[in-house]
Amino acid sequence: MWLLVRQPESGIMNSKQPIGVFDSGVGGLTVVRALMERLPNENIVYFGDTARVPYGVKSRNTIEEFTMQIVEFLLQHQVKSLVIACNTIAAVAYKRVQQMVGNMPVLSVIEAGAQEALKVTRNNHIGVIATNTTVNSNAYARAVHAHNPDTRVLSQATPLLVSLVEEGWLDHEVTRLTVREYLKPILADDVDTLILGCTHFPHLKPLIKQEVPHLELVDSSITTAEATAQALAAASLLNTSEQTPDYRFYVSDIPLRFQTIGERFLGRSLEQIEMMRLG
Ligand code: DGL
Repeated sequence: MWLLVRQPESGIMNSKQPIGVFDSGVGGLTVVRALMERLPNENIVYFGDTARVPYGVKSRNTIEEFTMQIVEFLLQHQVKSLVIACNTIAAVAYKRVQQMVGNMPVLSVIEAGAQEALKVTRNNHIGVIATNTTVNSNAYARAVHAHNPDTRVLSQATPLLVSLVEEGWLDHEVTRLTVREYLKPILADDVDTLILGCTHFPHLKPLIKQEVPHLELVDSSITTAEATAQALAAASLLNTSEQTPDYRFYVSDIPLRFQTIGERFLGRSLEQIEMMRLG
C-alpha cells in the first residue's frame, strides 16, 4: 500500500518504510520487543545512544541537542514514523521532534502511558516512577491533566532501579528493598495505578506485583506499541507485506555487556548491530 503523506527528506512515504525507534541506550529495546509482537510485519530501525547514556540525569538542552542528532540520523533511513522509546527524551524533547518531522506520526511513551493509566485508575490517583529528568519535567502529570485535570499524579524519581535492572537483579533482595523504599510515598498517597515511566521498569513487573499486588501497573512499552499500530492505521501506513521484516540496530558505542543486556531486553538474539557515532 503506498501512501501520500509528506516526509521532509524524500517527499513521500510508503508503508514498507521502517519505523524509527530511539532511546538513550539499550532500554528502548523493550519497546522494540513490544512493537515486534504487536506489528510483526513492520521493518524497524533502532538507535540507542549507548555512548552518552544515561540521559535521565542530563539537562533539557543537552537531551534536545542529542535528540536532534538522532532524529536526523533516522530520517536518513527514510523512516515513516518515529517512536520515542525513552521516557526521558519524550519528557523533554517530544515537541522538538514533532517540529523537526512535520506531519510524520511521532509516538511518545509518555502520552501512551498517561492515556492507559487514565483508563485503568478507579480512584484517580496515579503514581509514576521514572528518572530524575522525567520527574523534574512533570511531563506525565501534564499529559494526564491534559485529559483529566482532576486526577492526582504523584511522581517519584527512582534512578537506582535503572542500574539494578541492567545488572539483571530482577528478583534480588537489594532490588526488593529499593523498590519498597521508593514506593513508600506513592503508597502513602493511596495510588491505585503505577506508570512504569522508564524503559527499564517493565522488567520489574513481577517483583513490584509481589510487593504491592493491588497496584495496577502500566507498561508503556505495550501501550506505545498499541498507539503506534493505531497511528499507522490512521495514516494508512501499516505494512501488510508478507516479507520477513528487516530489523537494524545502531548504537553509538558497544560496551562489553551490550549483547547480553540487549538480548535480555529484546527477548531474542540481537543481530545486525552497527556502531554509529553522532555529533
Ligand atoms: N531510557 C531512559 C528512560 O526511559 C532510562 C535510561 C537513561 O537514564 O538514559 O527514561
